[in-house]
Amino acid sequence: MKNILLIGGSYGIGLAIAKELQYDNKIYIASRTKEEIGDMHVTHIPFDATTDTLDTSLLPAVLDGLVYCPGSINLRPFKGLKIDAFENDLQINFLNLVKVLQTVLPNLTASNQSSVVLFSTVAATMGMPFHTSVSASKGAIEGFAKALAAEYAPKIRVNVIAPSLTDTPLANKFLNSEEKKEKSAARNPLKKVGTSEDVAQMASFLLSEKSNWISGQIFHVDGGMSTLLVNG
Ligand SMILES: NC(=O)c1ccc[n+]([C@@H]2O[C@H](COP(=O)([O-])OP(=O)(O)OC[C@H]3O[C@@H](n4cnc5c(N)ncnc54)[C@H](OP(=O)(O)O)[C@@H]3O)[C@@H](O)[C@H]2O)c1
Repeated sequence: MKNILLIGGSYGIGLAIAKELQYDNKIYIASRTKEEIGDMHVTHIPFDATTDTLDTSLLPAVLDGLVYCPGSINLRPFKGLKIDAFENDLQINFLNLVKVLQTVLPNLTASNQSSVVLFSTVAATMGMPFHTSVSASKGAIEGFAKALAAEYAPKIRVNVIAPSLTDTPLANKFLNSEEKKEKSAARNPLKKVGTSEDVAQMASFLLSEKSNWISGQIFHVDGGMSTLLVNG
């Protein structure tokens, strides 16, 4: 049974990962809220990645998996985007992740081989208007993940999942009506908005032994959005 820490996991994609893995693994969820976790087979650790240092005394000495879920979708024209917005996006997406990783590094290296799963976005690969801030912070994650994967191979595998629009609380403002959902689905090559489960399946695979020869990769779980041009 693997010990897996989810930073975030109280809703959205992280919660779907916890639901998928809860019976075959020991899951630790570190987040600010826990209402949606209900009576799942997980241990909750109150934690705000922006202000807190993770208390490792609440974790097992050996961690086999780490997933960092906090992120942002802050879309604004570049001209009006203040430097604070870039700093905030970089903070929640990337710098807090670095802090968490350094805190739990001894636990991850104590495993025979641990797996770290991070989240980027389709917009780090495909140029999309109004995405400069979030694309910059997710681009940082992609470069960081490859360098970290090289530095810690074969001890720690590091992979990134880059979704397109996925129906979670984070994306609610883009999907909060049937019309918006239909338009978003129509823009996607597979004609569908992603679900948390669609993305969680890939995370679950990357955390398992089945992916033990895979590291330093960016997985585009996006309905083909980053690579396919489909008419109609
Ligand atoms: N949804 C999409 O369309 C989409 C598209 C591309 C990429 N992504 C990326 O995929 C990842 C997961 O997205 P999601 O849609 O599942 O996000 P979400 O619905 O906002 O869920 C984020 C999770 O992270 C936790 N979290 C947020 N801020 C935190 C903080 N300061 N400290 C501790 N935990 C925090 C939240 O829990 P609490 O609030 O309880 O702390 C929640 O469990 C993100 O990195 C996102 O950028 C998502």
